[in-house]
Parts: sequence; structure tokens; C-alpha cells
Amino acid sequence: MKTQTVFPKGYVMSSFNNQASFPSYRPRRLRSKAALRELVRETILAPSDFIWPLFVMDGEDSAYPIPSMPGISRHTIDRLPNLAAKAKSLGIPAICIFPYTQPTLKTEDCKEAWNSNNLTNKAIRAIKDAVPEILVMTDIALDPYNVKGHDGIVRDGQIVNDETVEALVKMGAAQASAGADIIGPSDMMDGRIGALRTMLEQNGSQNVCILSYSAKFASNFYAPFRDAVGATSALDGDKNTYQLDYANGDEAMRMIARDIAEGADMIMVKPGMPYLDICYRAKKQFRVPTFAYQVSGEYAMIQSVNNHEHVDETKAMLESLLAFKRAGCDGILTYFAPVAAELLNR
Ligand code: PBG
Repeated sequence: MKTQTVFPKGYVMSSFNNQASFPSYRPRRLRSKAALRELVRETILAPSDFIWPLFVMDGEDSAYPIPSMPGISRHTIDRLPNLAAKAKSLGIPAICIFPYTQPTLKTEDCKEAWNSNNLTNKAIRAIKDAVPEILVMTDIALDPYNVKGHDGIVRDGQIVNDETVEALVKMGAAQASAGADIIGPSDMMDGRIGALRTMLEQNGSQNVCILSYSAKFASNFYAPFRDAVGATSALDGDKNTYQLDYANGDEAMRMIARDIAEGADMIMVKPGMPYLDICYRAKKQFRVPTFAYQVSGEYAMIQSVNNHEHVDETKAMLESLLAFKRAGCDGILTYFAPVAAELLNR
């Protein structure tokens, strides 16, 4: 059988437009010089696209490297002003705080979550005092404070919804009064966005933004993070009764629609890379500020090629981040934020 190797006359390269046909249309023309490629580039990645997640811990002037996330450490609060200054000088607009809570502070009722002097709230104040222009985002979920390691309160083996929402509201109120600019509910309980929005209004915190982890899937890619915040050994079972089944895209759209209706300002898709279809659909359908979380497992995978003979870690990392922008995201939570920003600023 013969295969045709020459383009037939009038061959249309692409089915969705009415551009000239070959040879008048030679798409490689626009790729032929670096300056031309820059001129016609559709998507730009910049330091202003990043939210930088930071792990915080008790102690003084130290950092503890996280074994499951090479290159990433937990930092003591007194080091945060310097890190915030670094974010500012790199052009990264926001930092997101994740606390490593002492096991002795974890309880069934998770009350450390709304202690105004817990690690997160101290971290918020430390950053806002030192570099007020940097936005501080928080995580709202009970897992760092829960003996059971779950995002919600556990009763008789069930993650109870409404009682958890009450706890999350107290947690959010404490973060807002500590000075958080953006609160990020990552717990996937029903009704929490509306409850948090009502609380913010009542407390005079109407300018605090909600970035809702609306499309958060029950993912295997969170494992290194749970190690980083010390939740691995605590976690009893899995999170499948609240996080989304990763087979479900329509359900993710329903969760986003609901959270916007309840008062979310921005929405998140999490994890990121295996979920670019969800990012694309979300932006196309809702046209609200849309973020992706390139989670710990994705970080660990990309980072692990650093000694690879064939894959360039740095280039692969930038490619992975730009892909989120192309898919429609306005920004990305990524552990690569400072490294990527430095490269992009060169
Ligand atoms: C907790 C939370 C998780 C992450 C962010 N907030 C873990 C989980 O849901 O088990 C994961 C982040 C990452 O993997 O980088 N609610």
C-alpha cells in the first residue's frame, strides 16, 4: 500500500480556520526566529502568577528539610520576614501558610485550629508586620490539628459535616483577625463557603478573599505534603467521603458553581497537572479567577529528575507551570515559586 507523502493541492492544514493553504501558509515561518516566537507567544508565565506555599514550625532560627520533598523545608516563624522579603523582591504576590503542629496539640475537637496564637496565626502576623504588601493566604481544614488526621471532626468513624463547618468558621475568624488576606478552605465540607462568607461579613472582614479549593480530588499526589505537615501517621483511613472522586469532571463543575454562589472570590483545582482538563473547563464555564495547586507529589516527581541524564529539571518545571496558564489558570500554587521566579526574572 502506498502512503501519500506529498501534500495534495489545496490541502487545508487546520480544520478550524480559513487560512491559506500550503505553500502560501507555512506555519513554520512564525517559528523560524526566537524574536518571532516571542512576538506571537500566546501565554506568558510570570512571577506574579505564583502563590508560594511555606511550611512553618515551632522553634528558633531554623529550618528542617522535609525528606519527602527534597529542596523544601519547614521554617520557624522568625525566618518568615526574610522569606516574605524574598517573595517581594522576586515579584511573588502571595505566600500560603501550612503549619507543622506538635502532636501533643492535636485533639479530637481540633481546638488548636482557632487558637489566636497558633502557628498559622503567628505566621500571618509575622509576615504582615514585616512585609505588609505580601498577601498571606491560609489553609482552612482541621487536619493539622486533628488526632485523626482528617480535615473534619470524626465521630463514630464518620466525618461530621455541620459540626466541622462550625469549627472551620472559628478557624477562619481567627485567621482573618490575625490579618490573613485570603482564606483557602481545602476541607471539602458542604456549606462551608457560605458559612465563612457570612462570618467575614459579620466580623467586619468583608475584604478578606475566599479562594475555595472547590475542585479538590481525593488524590494520591498529596502524600509528601502529609509528611511535611506531620499528618501521615495520624490519618485514619482515606478522605474519599469528602474529597472528589478523581473520575468526576461534571461533579467538579457543580462544586465550583456552588462555591461561587456561596461567595467564593476565586476557585482552585487540585491537584494540578493530571487535572488540566478540569482547569480548562472551569475557566471556560465560569470565567472567575482560577488557580491550580501543583501539589507535593507533582513537585517531588519533577524535582526527582534533577539528576536525570536526559530530562532537564529546570526546563521541565517551567513547562509544567506554563501549561497551567495555557489551560486557563490565572495563577498557580507551587513549591517551585521562588526558583521559577528567579529564572523568569533573568
Ligand atoms: C489539607 C491539605 C492537603 C493539601 C493542602 N491542604 C492534604 C490533604 O488534603 O490531604 C495538599 C497539598 C500538597 O500535596 O501539596 N487539607
